[in-house]
Amino acid sequence: MQQYANHLDTLRVRYQTALSANGYDQVIINAGQLTYYADDDHAHPFHPYPFAQQWLPYRLVPNTFVVISLHDKPRLIWPAQEDFWHVSPQEPQGEWTEHWRITGAMTLKDWLPSLSGNIAWLGPVPTELNQLAPQIAVNPSGMKSTLAYQRAYKTPYEVQWLIEASERGVAGHRAAKQAFYEGLSELEIYRAFLTASGQREIDEPYPGIVGVNASAAVLHYEHKSPRRPDSARTLLIDAGAQANGYASDITRTYTTSDGLFGALLADMDVLQRNLVAGATVGTAFPELHTRALQGVADILRQHKLCTLSVDEQMAKRIPQVFYPHGLGHLLGLQVHDLTGHQIDIMGTVQKPTEEAPFLRLTRTLETDMVLTIEPGLYFIPMLLKHMTDTHHQHGCDLTLIEQLMPFGGIRIEDNILVTAQGPRNLTREAFVDSAG
Ligand code: GLY
Ligand code: MN
Ligand code: MN
Repeated sequence: MQQYANHLDTLRVRYQTALSANGYDQVIINAGQLTYYADDDHAHPFHPYPFAQQWLPYRLVPNTFVVISLHDKPRLIWPAQEDFWHVSPQEPQGEWTEHWRITGAMTLKDWLPSLSGNIAWLGPVPTELNQLAPQIAVNPSGMKSTLAYQRAYKTPYEVQWLIEASERGVAGHRAAKQAFYEGLSELEIYRAFLTASGQREIDEPYPGIVGVNASAAVLHYEHKSPRRPDSARTLLIDAGAQANGYASDITRTYTTSDGLFGALLADMDVLQRNLVAGATVGTAFPELHTRALQGVADILRQHKLCTLSVDEQMAKRIPQVFYPHGLGHLLGLQVHDLTGHQIDIMGTVQKPTEEAPFLRLTRTLETDMVLTIEPGLYFIPMLLKHMTDTHHQHGCDLTLIEQLMPFGGIRIEDNILVTAQGPRNLTREAFVDSAG
């Protein structure tokens, strides 16, 4: 409870400073409304707008609003709608409510016209907004970029939810591992993950990726085959859980190989741990990504997959053939949390270089950031063909690579809290702490 009160204090200071700096008296944050499939009465799964969710210790429902003003208590407007087709929303309860002024309302026009002063709006825009409040400043970019930038720094309350999300995710991963070694199908492994992590598919922070054998080479493999494999060689599972809107994003690779692929997996695990150790305050994330590329090049050389030196491979961008994605990203209320490329509160953007076009994080690491570290090594036919078509001196052993293709690839992904004392690995802590 004290943690939540401190969290609210932090948010209040952030918001009130941003309101003053941008000339507003108050800001309304809209958690969102249901949206529907075309010509249908079925709604899309509801994902509350993260700027609203950040304020509250329960999972928000549609038509919830948060109002933050320069001087008053924060105000929560919950949807006091009676609906016999669905579960009617209930008035929020709990000790935490003492920090809020709470009002139930059926519609926007029940409360919006009574607000006065210069008002900003954050979040999705309902159709009636313009008519009800034509002068409102909708998603003003200056204030939004400041608040988005600050979301990268997690409060202790947010870290607790992220730990909970890691623990739930790890429970799922343990079950998935067991299902793989029993020879089950991707779909069965996925169901084992969902059950053990206590989630429905729509609760996941992102659609889980479950690739068995060569499918492990598809970075965001979306199928879940119901067919059991003839021979289970590899499982790559990238799946997380959600706790009060906060996400975990965890990848593990398992193999039955005790040959070259097994050795590659062991070396990638060492590399990943070394990279995690490098996630320290003051480290420019693009530099850590370069170290990951060099690490992959070294593994390729040591296992004779590529005879070129690390420097030669880097010059020819050979590691990117085997490891085409970025080392990681900010993590929080969104799996790819906002502002990975935003380097100040004004909204200045630092794009990644051509060496790492898919890098989602270019900021320098600071205390209280939470991010992923997720190097990979894959045998992706499309990229290998592109390499052989464009480089004549690639130095790679294509026969050996051909033998590894049925194993797909490797990714190991942990969630890291940057602290003044060094990186804290929330994922490995959860694997150590949980039984089994
Ligand atoms: N699961 C998506 C990612 O790792 O970024
Ligand atoms: Mn990730
Ligand atoms: Mn992931």
